[in-house]
Amino acid sequence: MNKPQGPLSRLDPEAAVMGPEPDYLRKTYTWAYLNPRHLPFLDRGVVVSAILWGNANRLMEAAFQEFQPGDDVLQPAAVYGPFSKRLAKRLGADGRLEVRDVAPVQIAFTQRKMAGIPGVTVRQGNAADPVGRQVDGVCCFFLLHEVPDDWKRRIIGSLLDAVRPGGKAVFVDYHQPAALHPLRPIMSGVFHWLEPYALGMMGKEIQEFTDRAGAFTWRKETYFGGLYQKVVAERAA
Ligand SMILES: C[S@@+](CC[C@H](N)C(=O)[O-])C[C@H]1O[C@@H](n2cnc3c(N)ncnc32)[C@H](O)[C@@H]1O
Repeated sequence: MNKPQGPLSRLDPEAAVMGPEPDYLRKTYTWAYLNPRHLPFLDRGVVVSAILWGNANRLMEAAFQEFQPGDDVLQPAAVYGPFSKRLAKRLGADGRLEVRDVAPVQIAFTQRKMAGIPGVTVRQGNAADPVGRQVDGVCCFFLLHEVPDDWKRRIIGSLLDAVRPGGKAVFVDYHQPAALHPLRPIMSGVFHWLEPYALGMMGKEIQEFTDRAGAFTWRKETYFGGLYQKVVAERAA
């Protein structure tokens, strides 16, 4: 294949030829995020709700309540369903929501979904890279369990670095369920076969993935018998 000319040729040569999606995403999640024929089905609210065992609304609300109208918030990866529209509504006309995603197909899809909503920008970007600006808040919804542990470290570090003094990063994701959780055997199979990088989060706190933890106050809530967690890292004002 010929190497691309023009602006792409100035990027990392491998990324310019292969596209910017990391290997783990191509190998594990092409069916879920990179195949454009699957996106409209997976984007349905009822599918999102089923995947989260009926907890989607509760978990979204848990994240949204951390932000105030007028906040400038970064969402570092696209999320299926009404998530971004509802977050933009929460931030209101004076707020700003920037949605990034590493996959161009997700960016095109999300741009169509969010078209015309004031204060929203959608652009391609890797959550492991420096954000490049300071924000009031970061809203990271079910991204960490989909990346290898070394990427978890890079992503958490970059996102925490972007939080302004007095701001916060919110992580909503899987968590190790209670020992007698009735879904534990099923989720164990799901993690082994479909979500292998989620295993790195079991029995480990999100703040253990970063050496920036000391600059933040951390709090955690768990949901649905411990299968899900919200972790909030607040930077001192
Ligand atoms: C937020 S996660 C999972 C969200 C959740 N499962 C849902 O319902 O959509 C999925 C997104 O993360 C994106 N992604 C994966 N690795 C990324 C990275 N390093 N930087 C930015 N986006 C990334 C994928 O392209 C995908 O669109």
